[in-house]
Amino acid sequence: MSTPLAELHMHIEGSLEPELILALAERNRVALPYRDLDDLRSRYEFTDLQSFLDLYFANMAVLRTEQDFADLARAYFARAAAAGVRHAEIFFNPQAHTVRGVPLRAVLDGLGEAVRGSEAEFGVSTALIAAVLRDRPAAEAGEMLDELVRLDVPVLGLGLDSAEVGNPPSKFVEVFERARAHGLHTVAHAGEEGPPEYIWQALDLLGVERIDHGVRCLEDPALVARLVDEQVPLTVCPLSNVRLRVVDTMAEHPLRTMLDAGLLVTVNSDDPAYFGGYVDDNFAGLRAGLGLTDEEREVLARNSIRASFASAERKRELL
Ligand code: ADE
Ligand code: ZN
Repeated sequence: MSTPLAELHMHIEGSLEPELILALAERNRVALPYRDLDDLRSRYEFTDLQSFLDLYFANMAVLRTEQDFADLARAYFARAAAAGVRHAEIFFNPQAHTVRGVPLRAVLDGLGEAVRGSEAEFGVSTALIAAVLRDRPAAEAGEMLDELVRLDVPVLGLGLDSAEVGNPPSKFVEVFERARAHGLHTVAHAGEEGPPEYIWQALDLLGVERIDHGVRCLEDPALVARLVDEQVPLTVCPLSNVRLRVVDTMAEHPLRTMLDAGLLVTVNSDDPAYFGGYVDDNFAGLRAGLGLTDEEREVLARNSIRASFASAERKRELL
């Protein structure tokens, strides 16, 4: 029997499918600039990370109530379970909602309701990671952390995402230090579009336990040696990398090179509604494009459980 999967790099707002966007727009009476579903779907052609982020943030306008966030997360847990996921650590972007006037409490109560029910309903244990928008001021990230702590919510960790180039990890040293002091796990997107230097910074200045993406580490042999030596997990997202033109084609994806180098790599869907699918679709793409074998899939599945923040008991159940 094959090892089940943990998904460690998935933005819940990136699982907002076009059909749900239109349904929520109607429910919440939000006017969208799309004629219909086909018109909306025609916008899903990206040239780089920013071209995706523009659509990703625009579509969040339909997420307004606690119920919206609960519906969104339940839809993901159902689909993830069908993909073979048994544990999921999901990102959400508090600032993307609070700047639009949606209270953090509504976001957390909605996501929290779905998270609490997901193990019983779908067999998926789950946790939330609040991700800082790195293209916004560091002081705002600090305020977000203060509010999370004040609300005393079941958030497991702090992450760092959004437009990478020009927004190095060094901008967020203080907020990550405080997050760790509060007992939160920490992770950061680094080395997706940004240089290997940002991965060094995430490790040395932010003290993160995992690197999200990290594919550009291959440009720096000393960094690869460090990541292998410390077995720092890299949450790689193959379909995302192709759709955002981090790599040209799946056949050229460096996943096997990374595995063969001894890096602790996992496979994830990033923003499944935008990049052509969920984690099973990513494995299908790797099989078709790279000839990924069953043995390699098994290594990647075991890596995903090892790299998760699940309890030792849950890890034993899954491995
Ligand atoms: N937010 C959602 N998806 C992202 C990605 N792939 N990189 C950076 N920020 C993101
Ligand atoms: Zn991501």
